[in-house]
Formats: sequence, C-alpha cells, structure tokens
Amino acid sequence: MTQKNIRHFIDLTDVSNAELNRIMELAEQIKADYIAGKREDYLPKKVLGLIFEKMSLRTRVSFETGMAHLGGSSMLLEEQHIGFGKREPVADISRVLSSMVDVIAFRAKKHQSVVDLARYSSCPVINALTDRSHPCQALADMLTIKEEFGTYAVKIVWVGDSNNVAASLIEAAAKLGAEIVVSSPEGYTFSDEEIARFTVGETAPGFKLSFESDPYEAVRDARVLYTDVWVSMGQEAEEETRKKVFAPYQVNGKLMAAAAPDAIFLHCLPARRGLEVTEDVIDSPQSRIVEEAENRMHAEKGLLVWLLNEAQR
Ligand code: CP
Ligand code: NVA
Repeated sequence: MTQKNIRHFIDLTDVSNAELNRIMELAEQIKADYIAGKREDYLPKKVLGLIFEKMSLRTRVSFETGMAHLGGSSMLLEEQHIGFGKREPVADISRVLSSMVDVIAFRAKKHQSVVDLARYSSCPVINALTDRSHPCQALADMLTIKEEFGTYAVKIVWVGDSNNVAASLIEAAAKLGAEIVVSSPEGYTFSDEEIARFTVGETAPGFKLSFESDPYEAVRDARVLYTDVWVSMGQEAEEETRKKVFAPYQVNGKLMAAAAPDAIFLHCLPARRGLEVTEDVIDSPQSRIVEEAENRMHAEKGLLVWLLNEAQR
C-alpha cells in the first residue's frame, strides 16, 4: 500500500516558492537564536533515521547535530547494515523504519531508491543526495548567499560539471529569484528535459537561467563562483577522461579575477585542490566554504522544523 498525503523533500520542486521562503526564514531565525546561545526544543523526542549508501561528512554531521540541538535524536543506518534492496525489499524497509522514526534522510546511489522509499513511508523522507540532486546542499548555499549579499538576487555562475549539486542550485535559484549561469563543457551540459524539470511551476521574479560554455565569458560580473568535483561519487571509472575535459573549467586566480571584485567562492565539498579549484582560491579571503558547510546544519534545521511541525497538516 502506498502512503498518501505525506509531504517529502526529495527535490526543491516538491515545495512552493512560499514554502521554500518559509524554510529559509526558519533557518535564519534558528541560526540567529543558536548564535545567541538559544537551542529551542522544536522537535522534542523526534527521531531521525539516516540512511547512507555513499560516504558523507557534512550531511551526516549536520543532520545529527541539528536534531540534537532541536531536542530530538538521530540514528545512523549504514547501507551494509540494513542491506538496502538486498536483505529485504525497499517497501518492507520503508514501512518498518517509518513505523518507528519520525523522519528519514536518505543518501542513495540511485535517485529512484529515494522515490521508492518515500512511496512506502508513513513519515517524511528527505533526499540527502542522489545521482540526480542534492536539495539540502542548495538550501545551505542560498543561505550563505543571502548572508553575504542580503539578497538572493545576485548572479551565480556554476563552473564545471552539470551535476546533482548544480541541478538543485538551479531549482533553488528559480524559487528564490537568483540569476544563474551554467558553464559546462560540451557533452556535460543539462538536457532540455532536465532544464524543463528544474524550472517547472512558478519561478520567482529576478530568476534568470542561461548557459555559456566559455567560463571567462560566464563569470563576467558574477558575485558567486561555484564549482564541484569533476568526478562525482559513482563516476570513478570516468576519472581520466573527465580530468582532461574539465581542465579549462578550473576555478583559479585568473578566473576569479574575471568576476566581480566582491565575488565569493562556493564549493559543496569535499574538494580536490589542484583539480576543479586551486589552493589560492579555495583558501583565499573570497572563499566561503566553511560558512557554507556550517550552513548545512542551520538550513536543515529549518527544513526539519518546517517538514515536521508545519508541512504535514
Ligand atoms: N557537501 C556534502 O554533501 O558533503 P558530504 O558528502 O560530506 O555529506
Ligand atoms: N557531486 C558530488 C557532491 C558530493 C557532495 C557527488 O555526488 O559526489
């Protein structure tokens, strides 16, 4: 039996613009309280189940500490322990797990696994990264941008692979009203079908999406330069080819200098210094990578509070 009427967070297109703004507002408010020394119990005794089929530092730590700060708790379920789809069917895992925990966050090799888990879950399911998207990362990225510039309405340039992190960033930009330019080499760009999916529904005023294969052309007047690894988890066999194709898309001092003078550098991490980004950029005063990573925790608190306390009505 498929569970009905449960609100999940699998992609940013699952929430309206107003709902995303509410998640961001909660994140900002809970972060301000946290900085002032207040850790309010928004989720007393609630339990988060965390399933990981791939490695993680930020996602695991941000969800676990976030739940603890909110008065709840979390439980790590590693793939080798639960045998996702091997030891028992996904439907059984989902029904059993959701009968005991209040929310599930799942990092899956295949996007479809998250969709399948949600289908049978009687509690909300959060996408903690798949091969298709990384919506929790985009929440943290947009929070970092708002803190830096006081608005989402800035020009963001994505340089490199048109991957899961880029997909969610485009969806967030569409809903919050940022301009985004994607600069990827031929053969590594989004399809028309994907682009249509990212921008489905209402887009916010100020949203602009364009594509420019020349990174120097793309970054002109950019306030945010964002890149990610050239070889994502699961693509290891393509490493040698990808290193060659993406070499002209390295974010180095020269490319950074071609952007606006107050531009910041973002990277979801983990990064490979010397490949997609040089040390002089990632460790420079323009880099906001640590703030961005910390914002995973604040953004996910906003998401958890919205999903459990407001969205399921
Ligand atoms: N950015 C991110 O999701 O990091 P982890 O893979 O360490 O969780
Ligand atoms: N694109 C990267 C992001 C890691 C957080 C990957 O999927 O491996």
